[in-house]
Amino acid sequence: MNVLVTGGAGYIGSHTCLELLERDYGVVVIDNLSNSNPKSLDRVQELTGKQLKFYEGDVRDEALLRKIFAENEIGCVIHFAGLKAVGESVAKPWEYYDNNLNSTLMLTKVMKEVGMKNIIFSSSATVYTATNEMPLRETSATGGCTNPYGWTKYMTEQILSGIAFADKAWSVCLLRYFNPIGAHESGRIGEDPRGIPNNLMPYITQVAVGRREKLSVFGNDYETHDGTGVRDYIHVVDLAKGHVAAVEYTVNHPGCEVFNLGTGTGYSVLDMVHTFREVNQVALPYVITDRRPGDIAVCYADPAKSAELLGWKAEKNLADMCRDSWNWQKNNPQGYGE
Ligand code: NAD
Ligand code: UFG
Repeated sequence: MNVLVTGGAGYIGSHTCLELLERDYGVVVIDNLSNSNPKSLDRVQELTGKQLKFYEGDVRDEALLRKIFAENEIGCVIHFAGLKAVGESVAKPWEYYDNNLNSTLMLTKVMKEVGMKNIIFSSSATVYTATNEMPLRETSATGGCTNPYGWTKYMTEQILSGIAFADKAWSVCLLRYFNPIGAHESGRIGEDPRGIPNNLMPYITQVAVGRREKLSVFGNDYETHDGTGVRDYIHVVDLAKGHVAAVEYTVNHPGCEVFNLGTGTGYSVLDMVHTFREVNQVALPYVITDRRPGDIAVCYADPAKSAELLGWKAEKNLADMCRDSWNWQKNNPQGYGE
C-alpha cells in the first residue's frame, strides 16, 4: 500500500517515512520545504536502501494534490504538514489559520473527490484544557487553547471528526502527540529547527554543541518534585512506529478515533539536564529564569488506549532520547545546513 505523507521532509515526517519504508509501504511525500530540508529524504532513502517519491509543493495547491492522487494509488494519508511554533502563531495568527486549516480542507476535498477516505492527523496534547487532572486520557476535556497554533489543532480535530460523522466511509485517526524528542539512532536524521529553538531538547543540544551559551530553565517554583516543569517526552522513533500502527488501524476501522501518543511518564526540565549530562558526558550550563507565559506545571499521557487498540507502546527511555538527540546534533552541528 502507498501512504501519502504530507510534511514528510520534516522532523516527525522523515522518521515516519523511514519506518514505513522499513515495513515495505510505498511512500509518497508532499512538502513545500517551508520548515525542512530535502536532504532529510535523501538520507531516509540511504538508510533504508529504498526509494520514495517526492513532490515539492503546498498541500493547499489543489491541482498538485489531484496530480498526486492521479499518479499514485494512495491507500492512506498521514497529514503532518503544518506550522508548529506556538509563539510565532501568536504573532502571525492569519498565517497559522490559513496554512493549518486550509491545508486540511483542501486535502480532504480532493480525498473526497477521489474516494480515498483514510486519514491520520498530527494533533497535539495542546488541545487538552489546562485544568485537567493528570494523566490525560482521550476523554479528558479539550478546548480553551491559549494560542492560535493550539486552536488550529483543536479546529482540525473538529473538522475531521465532523467529516467522519457525516460520511461513514471516512476513517479518521487523530493522534495527540506529547513531547517528541530524540532522533534516529544512525544520527543521520533529526530535528533541525530554524533560528532560536523554542523547545527544550533542541535548545539543550545547541548549548552542548556550543551554538548557544546556556540553557534558561523557565521557572523552578512549580509544584513538581524539583520545581521545574514536567512533560511526557517521547522518542521520535517510537512516535514514528505509532504512525505505522495507526495506518494499519485506520485502513481497517471506519469512523473517528483519538489516541494519545506518549509514554505515560513525566520528567522535569532538571531531570532532562541531569540525564543529558550523564549519558553524554558533556557540559550543559544553565540558569533559572522566570516562568514562560502560558506554560503549565505538569503534562503527561495515559497511553492505555493506544496500547489496547493500536497495539503500540513507547519502548525507548529517557537515556535513549538524550543519547540519540546528542548523536544527531554532534554529527550535524548545523543540522542539515552544512
Ligand atoms: P516540521 O516543521 O519539522 O514538519 C512539518 C513539515 O510540513 C515541514 O517539512 C514543512 O516544510 C511542511 N509544511 C508546512 N506547511 C506545509 C504546507 N502548507 N504544504 C506542504 N508542506 C508544508 O514539524 P514536526 O515537528 O515534524 O511536526 C509535524 C506535525 O506534528 C505538525 O503538524 C505539528 O504541528 C505536529 N506536532 C508536532 C509536535 C512537536 O513537538 N514536534 C507536537 C505535537 C504535534
Ligand atoms: N523549557 C525550558 N527552557 C527552554 C525551553 C523549554 O525550561 O529553553 C521548559 C518549558 O518551560 C517546559 C519544558 O521545558 O516546562 C518543555 O518545553 P517545550 O517548549 O519543549 O514543550 P512544551 O511542552 O511547552 O510544548 C510542546 C510543543 C507544543 C505543544 C505542546 C503541548 O512544543 O507545540 O508541547 O503538546 F503545543
